Amino acid sequence: MQLTHRPVISSTGLFTPEESITNEELVESFNTFVDLHNERNADAIAAGEIEPLQHSSVEFIEKASGIKARHVMAKAPVLDPDIMAPRWDERSNDELSIMAEIGVKAARQALDRAGRKPEDVDAVLCAASNMQRAYPAMAIEIQQALGIEGFGFDMNVACSSATFGIQTAADYVRSGNAKSVLVVSPEITSGHLNWRDRDSHFIFGDVATAVLVEDAAIAPEQHWDILSTKLKTVFSNNIRNNFGFLNRAHPESAGEPDKLFVQEGRKVFKEVVPMVAQMIIDEAEKLQMDPATLRRLWLHQANAGMNRLIAQRVLGHEANDDESPTVLDTYGNTSSAGSIIAFHLNSDDLAAGDTGLICSFGAGYSAGTVFVRKAA
Ligand code: COA
Repeated sequence: MQLTHRPVISSTGLFTPEESITNEELVESFNTFVDLHNERNADAIAAGEIEPLQHSSVEFIEKASGIKARHVMAKAPVLDPDIMAPRWDERSNDELSIMAEIGVKAARQALDRAGRKPEDVDAVLCAASNMQRAYPAMAIEIQQALGIEGFGFDMNVACSSATFGIQTAADYVRSGNAKSVLVVSPEITSGHLNWRDRDSHFIFGDVATAVLVEDAAIAPEQHWDILSTKLKTVFSNNIRNNFGFLNRAHPESAGEPDKLFVQEGRKVFKEVVPMVAQMIIDEAEKLQMDPATLRRLWLHQANAGMNRLIAQRVLGHEANDDESPTVLDTYGNTSSAGSIIAFHLNSDDLAAGDTGLICSFGAGYSAGTVFVRKAA
């Protein structure tokens, strides 16, 4: 088989947890927690030593973010005002870890959809915002569970992990180092979300996605040509999570809220929108493409308002759902998986020759664009 060194997306896969939390359920649980907290601290609040916590609201969440519900791996403990975190039994080292398990489910679907056998895949990248352990790599565990030879490694670029993974996979194809690479993004964001933080408790949801990047020579008839990939990072503290192995060097602060997801949402909104819109326009120019001709934008799913503004700048008019589909309403922000879910659920209807854009952005700051064209 003569390889082309031209990377394409052969297929995608999606695993969605069964359980889902509506805004109503979430706010009810949060407000119960707030009332309990304020009751328990009534004396300190009355003495002016601490501020009372404030209620959350369904209307605010939907208006500020566009999120109406989110899937989670464990609903009951997240909604329990005395827990407000995921809970499940710890698995032994002989069992498949939970991140690998959902990654495998998404990966199997991608392989099935491409008609690809695991033994024909050369590499697995586990590209996600959080890894549940330092080593052995989740990617190697997924590789072993699927029966793939070759190599695998984990990579973390927060919300842009999947697009950075796609470029890495595409580069292996371009260089001839691999002809078939799985980019798997298991995002169990319920583990890093501070469910007690009013500013962000509504943001995230759990999911897993997989993207099969291959040399055009072996791709199935129905695939997406990758026209270009572009990555960008600019350091910012506006989205930060200080959890890590060195937390034990200062055990007194190891349980503080900064060891979970924290953000300055307004600043993120203001700084990331122009950066990403410009990045897309510049890359389109390099491709000698009028960005207004992009048939569909599969944007990172963090905030409906951000996507509205980015799509408007790129397309030159307010985008409708067909031009810039959202999955925020049912999935919430699923970190790096968001743009891949949007692509997975909203790409079959496009015609051969149509061009589109997968785009991610988030902590780092990091941003990635993948321009694609439907082949058949
Ligand atoms: N319920 C009710 N009111 C709330 C609330 C809640 N859960 N959380 C905040 N508020 C209040 C605030 O107290 C504030 O009140 P004030 O005006 O009286 O001070 C008001 O709502 C606005 O708060 P603000 O934090 O400025 O909201 P916002 O409009 O910026 O929306 C985000 C918050 C997070 C949805 C928004 O900034 C955002 O999406 N940013 C993009 C970044 C992102 O999502 N990143 C994820 C990683 S990529």
